[in-house]
Amino acid sequence: MKVLLINGSPHAKGCTWRALLEVEKTLHMEDIETEWLHIGFEPVRGCMGCGMCRKNKLGKCIFGEDAVNVAIARMEQCDGLIVGTPVHYASAAGGITSFLDRMFYSSKGFPYKPGAAVASCRRGGSIGALDQLNKYFTISNMPVVPSAYWNMVFGNTPQEVEQDKEGMMVMRTLGRNMAWMLKSIEAGRQAGLAVPQPEKKVRTNFIRKLEPEEKDFAPYFTSYNKVDKKYQEED
Ligand SMILES: Cc1cc2nc3c(=O)[nH]c(=O)nc-3n(C[C@H](O)[C@H](O)[C@H](O)COP(=O)(O)O)c2cc1C
Repeated sequence: MKVLLINGSPHAKGCTWRALLEVEKTLHMEDIETEWLHIGFEPVRGCMGCGMCRKNKLGKCIFGEDAVNVAIARMEQCDGLIVGTPVHYASAAGGITSFLDRMFYSSKGFPYKPGAAVASCRRGGSIGALDQLNKYFTISNMPVVPSAYWNMVFGNTPQEVEQDKEGMMVMRTLGRNMAWMLKSIEAGRQAGLAVPQPEKKVRTNFIRKLEPEEKDFAPYFTSYNKVDKKYQEED
């Protein structure tokens, strides 16, 4: 069993790397293999919403100049995913946000493969960053791996991160829990437990065609929409 570790920091061997390294050591002690992917320090293009990936059922992004499609391909061989980010302005860093937008949108995620996010910060904002990253997993039927606290470390250098004893403990616990989840899923699979079958996808938003039975209310909706449009024009 293998876990993909994505370092979403521009620093290849910075604080985020040090946190992920602690997770990796524990995974190895539990006989789980790992693979690293550093998103690098070149600009990462954001998703432009062209929809070509889905229209043509590519399963990958049409832009191949960075490692997004490499990550998608590696996830075919990997059973779990851990994404690390430095905190930039109380959020995940811009590069990894763009990376994950395209990685998850074009592939539709990695259902039933456990995922976890790790955040590294000097002082504050890691909760928001973790919340942001965990949403990629929870919209994709990916179980989120827990730890003994939220997965954050504090520091401006890898040496400082090492001094965050609680952070290091949380990283090791995350590694053990990831290993446990992977082994549990595999044991379930061997015992004949299949993953849940998806329902037919239902997608709604709040602007839609009226159903026949709603036609009676059409005048109300029409005038309401007109008012709405006027406000939009004023904006
Ligand atoms: C543009 C930028 C914004 C930052 N914003 C925050 C922040 O909001 N909160 C914080 O605690 N640290 C912030 N930091 C510090 C980094 O999160 C912190 O040093 C982190 O551990 C660096 O990880 P790395 O070495 O993996 O890049 C910021 C750093 C940069 C470069």
